[in-house]
Amino acid sequence: MTANTKAADKAAIEDLLAEARRRTLDLVEPLDDAQLNRVYSPILSPLAWDLGHIANFEELWLVQTIADRAPLHGELGRFYDAIENPRVTRGELPILRDAELRSYMDEVRERTLEVLAEVEIGPEAEDPLLRDGFVYEMLLAHELQHNETMLQLLQLVDGYEPLLPVGTAAVEGTGADMVEMVGGTYEIGAGPRGFAYDNERGRHTVELAPFEIDRTPVTNAAYTDFMEDTGAAAPDYWERDGGGWVRTAMGRREPLAPDHPVVHVSHEQAEAFARWAGKRLPTEFEWEAARERLDSLGQVWEWTSSDFVAYPDFSAFPYSEYSEVFFGEQYRVLRGGSWATHPRVARPTFRNWDLPQRSQIFSGLRCARDA
Ligand SMILES: [Fe+2]
Repeated sequence: MTANTKAADKAAIEDLLAEARRRTLDLVEPLDDAQLNRVYSPILSPLAWDLGHIANFEELWLVQTIADRAPLHGELGRFYDAIENPRVTRGELPILRDAELRSYMDEVRERTLEVLAEVEIGPEAEDPLLRDGFVYEMLLAHELQHNETMLQLLQLVDGYEPLLPVGTAAVEGTGADMVEMVGGTYEIGAGPRGFAYDNERGRHTVELAPFEIDRTPVTNAAYTDFMEDTGAAAPDYWERDGGGWVRTAMGRREPLAPDHPVVHVSHEQAEAFARWAGKRLPTEFEWEAARERLDSLGQVWEWTSSDFVAYPDFSAFPYSEYSEVFFGEQYRVLRGGSWATHPRVARPTFRNWDLPQRSQIFSGLRCARDA
């Protein structure tokens, strides 16, 4: 790699970091400090925590870890540790707020760019964190993923006027159409090159029996039929309105669009729907194998029947708190990505996970069955 391409890579990283930051700031631009500090839900962080956490994570990895510099605010980082501070406690923490929060974000970014100018990030870099710019990709992904959790909360903010496009789009077709997949050996997971999280590796083969999978995600219309037939609970933010249903997001109450994918359903609701439809949820391997044949990807996260567990040859990198501590039977995998997920995050091999009773994420489903 020549000196010029290295400089170009660094310029590209700088642009990508700036673009992600613009997206973060655009999301909160319409809000005042009181709204940033307000706790809207015990399972969602106040936005001020997300903003400080984004900057603190950047400081921790791009300044403290790779350049061995001291933190700007001493021990502050412990209040932004996502594992140490459950969401329900975050509104009460002595975190940065208002003008102090904004200047912290700017100061960290300044230091990040100073360090970026100094480090070697090519394929020969000795530190695996820096090799091929891994740690910068990780930071970008982190900020963009937090943009999505911020959007989960922004749905609860009355009168929020987004600067970015929001919401799902209509699904084509009747929803009855299924894709047939032949049985056999499929390659699953991320290869050794390029950015991926540790939980997407190693790439390995799996044997799948023949199966069918819905061509499109389950729609509001289909979910309403299921509710009326079984008395199942409504997804989050739905309310009865006369004979029909309305949904409230960002303070706006609107009739449900029948042909949009259903969103904000839990794993438990998704499984019950699939049973009612005479089908089942796909495994995450089935989902990944069929991905290229599926329509309307990237509208809603799609629940699978798989527990969030390690792939063969998994090794935690760069820290076990990203995924390893969550492995086990308590979490289910979601695949795909939602309208709120940045395309950079929604890799075909990306694995999201949540507790089966949770529905605050932009979660929907499509069904599968044995062929
Ligand atoms: Fe985080």
